[in-house]
Amino acid sequence: MRVSGAFLIAFSSALALPTSEKWIEKDVCIIGGGASGTYAAVRLKQQHVDVALIEKEGKLGGPVTTYTDSSTGQTYDYGVQVFSNLSVVHSFFHHFDIPLVQLPPPSGGDTKMMNFETGEVVPPAQLYLGNLTEAMLGYAEQQAKYSSIFEDWDLPDPVPEDLLLPFGDFLKKHNLEAFAYIAFLYDQGIANLLAQPTLYVMKYQDRVQIQDLLTGGFVVNGLQNNQLLYDRAAAAIDDGRSLYLNSYPTEITRHSDRVEITVVTKNGVKHIRARKLLVTIPPKSTVSFLDLDRSEQTMFRQFNNSYYWNAILKNTGIPVGTTLPNVNPEAPLNIPAMPGMYTFLASPVPGLHATYYSSPHNMSDEEVSADILSTLQRVRQGAGYPEPEHSPELVALHKWSQFEMTVSNDAIRKGFYNDLLALQGKKNTWWTGATWMNQATATLWRYTEEKVLPHLVPERDILRVQE
Ligand SMILES: Cc1cc2nc3c(=O)[nH]c(=O)nc-3n(C[C@H](O)[C@H](O)[C@H](O)COP(=O)(O)OP(=O)(O)OC[C@H]3O[C@@H](n4cnc5c(N)ncnc54)[C@H](O)[C@@H]3O)c2cc1C
Ligand SMILES: *[C@@H]1O[C@H](CO)[C@@H](O)[C@H](O)[C@H]1NC(C)=O
Ligand SMILES: *[C@@H]1O[C@H](CO)[C@@H](O)[C@H](O)[C@H]1NC(C)=O
Ligand SMILES: *[C@@H]1O[C@H](CO)[C@@H](O)[C@H](O)[C@H]1NC(C)=O
Ligand SMILES: *[C@@H]1O[C@H](CO)[C@@H](O)[C@H](O)[C@H]1NC(C)=O
Repeated sequence: MRVSGAFLIAFSSALALPTSEKWIEKDVCIIGGGASGTYAAVRLKQQHVDVALIEKEGKLGGPVTTYTDSSTGQTYDYGVQVFSNLSVVHSFFHHFDIPLVQLPPPSGGDTKMMNFETGEVVPPAQLYLGNLTEAMLGYAEQQAKYSSIFEDWDLPDPVPEDLLLPFGDFLKKHNLEAFAYIAFLYDQGIANLLAQPTLYVMKYQDRVQIQDLLTGGFVVNGLQNNQLLYDRAAAAIDDGRSLYLNSYPTEITRHSDRVEITVVTKNGVKHIRARKLLVTIPPKSTVSFLDLDRSEQTMFRQFNNSYYWNAILKNTGIPVGTTLPNVNPEAPLNIPAMPGMYTFLASPVPGLHATYYSSPHNMSDEEVSADILSTLQRVRQGAGYPEPEHSPELVALHKWSQFEMTVSNDAIRKGFYNDLLALQGKKNTWWTGATWMNQATATLWRYTEEKVLPHLVPERDILRVQE
């Protein structure tokens, strides 16, 4: 059958939904309401930029997980806990009237090092790798050499070979082995730490954090309720047409002067037309709704990632206030192999312990839960704690996929990150989030504030003033 061109045009315009009333017009549409997306939306709104923030969950904050004890109402942050002492952190918390306090120094007294593989208690003397303070200072000195690189992830050509060494080899080369175990406990979620290229470890635990570790500069939410910060941010963003929770884009088309976004929301499908797009979610298969061109596809396909879980346990049999870190004196630099656990961490809510798990490959929540519970039994018996009256129970478990996105050394040498950075601003699209900066809230807020947001405040504001 042949149809005339005129018929086709009439037919397609009848089908095409977007008459102008049907479009929600916006200056900037933001995908993902975690650390970066929430920050961006709040700050843009303060600058009179009309935003739409699209978040697939029913709340903002991403990996912020705040546990609320049902009997006492006491809250406890067992996801995002510490923030670097940066001015963006102080201003953002202050804006939402939430106090920050200095991270209390570790009490140490109630910490027992244990080998989770065997269930044995490990005496600290068995773990001595050298002077920790000296190693940390030495590491800070090494890291300072590369400070300009990590400000905005702009890598020189050639990439310094030290940065491509597996982290374990790097520590040996510079006699910094005594730093390894602290890095393991601190840089959680990146699976086998010693095998990761040094570049990614330095990216994860940036200079600001090393300084904070050395000086005790870290701050924490004084109310132990980071969800409250994001709930207050949500209330500030929500004006009936700017915040889309439980929503996700299905199709995004980027034109030279606008971006068209189809979003599934709890109130049906919406069509947003924005001048600019800000993507904060990891650029992997997760962004298949975007009209990616071949070079974007080629780049994004190269990302690998690790997996990270956080959980809350009750009836552990571990005494209240006691923390048990996982250590393996048989393993290189005492670091346990992953998949596995980091620690059973004492919580301020009596009867609860938090725990953290990582894997280099995908695992189901069932496998992770089973491993945590059987490890708990081994460790409890090894430590000689009496059997709890009720069976141990996981009361919460969250999986964070696409944690710590990495590409191969070969790709890094060939200029992967310069190509990635060159995507900023192309097709009216800007990017922020952990892949572009690092896996830490404070530096993500600073990067978003300083390097990304200035491009998203439209010139139109200047015209408005002139009118
Ligand atoms: C257990 C844990 C503990 C941590 N502890 C700390 C800490 O103490 N201090 C610290 O600074 N950092 C910590 N981090 C790291 C920090 O949380 C992350 O680095 C930070 O949240 C990354 O911010 P982001 O904006 O890149 O992504 P996220 O905060 O992960 O936000 C991404 C958002 O996008 C949403 N989303 C995903 N796909 C879609 C889609 N298709 N459509 C719409 N929305 C989508 C997600 O639901 C999420 O809300 C921790 C992370 C974890 C997992
Ligand atoms: C460790 O190194 C620091 C800094 O050089 C020094 O002050 C301290 O005395 C050393 N500690 C031990 C136990 O040697
Ligand atoms: C935190 O930062 C402020 C401002 O830069 C500084 O005055 C203060 O000393 C820092 N605190 C710590 C503990 O490093
Ligand atoms: C991703 O990294 C893990 C751990 O290093 C490795 O086992 C896996 O093969 C990598 N996957 C890809 C696709 O490179
Ligand atoms: C990981 O495994 C889970 C359960 O086994 C599965 O549902 C999920 O799709 C997998 N994810 C990836 C990225 O392969």
